[in-house]
Amino acid sequence: MIYLKTDEEIELLRENNILVSKTLAEVGRHIKPGVTTKELDKIAEDYIRSHGATPAFLGYDGYPATACISVNEQVVHGIPSDYVIKEGDVVSVDLGTFMKGFVGDSAYTFAVGEVSDEVKQLLSVTKEALYKGTAQAKAGNRVGDISAAVQDYAESFGYGVVRELEGHGLGRKMHEAPGVPNYGLRGRGPLLKEGMVICIEPMITMGGRAVVFERDGWTVRTRDRKPAAHYEFAVAIRKGGPDVLTDFSIIENAINN
Ligand code: MF3
Ligand code: CO
Repeated sequence: MIYLKTDEEIELLRENNILVSKTLAEVGRHIKPGVTTKELDKIAEDYIRSHGATPAFLGYDGYPATACISVNEQVVHGIPSDYVIKEGDVVSVDLGTFMKGFVGDSAYTFAVGEVSDEVKQLLSVTKEALYKGTAQAKAGNRVGDISAAVQDYAESFGYGVVRELEGHGLGRKMHEAPGVPNYGLRGRGPLLKEGMVICIEPMITMGGRAVVFERDGWTVRTRDRKPAAHYEFAVAIRKGGPDVLTDFSIIENAINN
């Protein structure tokens, strides 16, 4: 069952996703060598609660934290810990909020200090893959148009596209239909309609696409332990085209200053 949202509901989803963007900016400002991922999680939780929302991930299927913080070979769902961030790390932060009956859910990958050109390219290509997918998120297209756009772009650089996890509908619940895979065929899958809201979230690996699910029950890492990147934002399908509800410029202005 795919729930179509009214304009008012889309604005509530936007409020949530702007709060997620601001929280990611606040966390991003604090990502420096010496900080632990648990300290970053606390910053995220305090920020979300002080803005009248609750952390949507905390307690979800028993998840124990506000943020998923996935470092280097960790792809997604890394649990905040006493791990100390160091120069050269690749840090993906995924956050959710719950406010006014709706959910926000977005992710951003940060480079810590100087990273190799290889890593810089992995990050920029993963973000661009998200934008390529988003450009297909319009009424009349199909989910497969988004999936194929993400996959074709990422694979054209020789990167791996993780198959085991996917994007999703977003609304009163964090995970609604339809699933939004990052690989697939143009013209296939559910039809995109005005009022649908989806999260597109490419998970892209520098090496092979195979992943391992760690024994902590959450962390997903690359099998070959090469780095991965993950960007996610929420998009409303409108007649005029994609309406992106997350604002990465808030994050980028915060970390480039
Ligand atoms: N952002 C993730 C997703 O898009 C959700 C994190 S899993 C959780 O599916 F359990 F921590 F919430
Ligand atoms: Co998501």
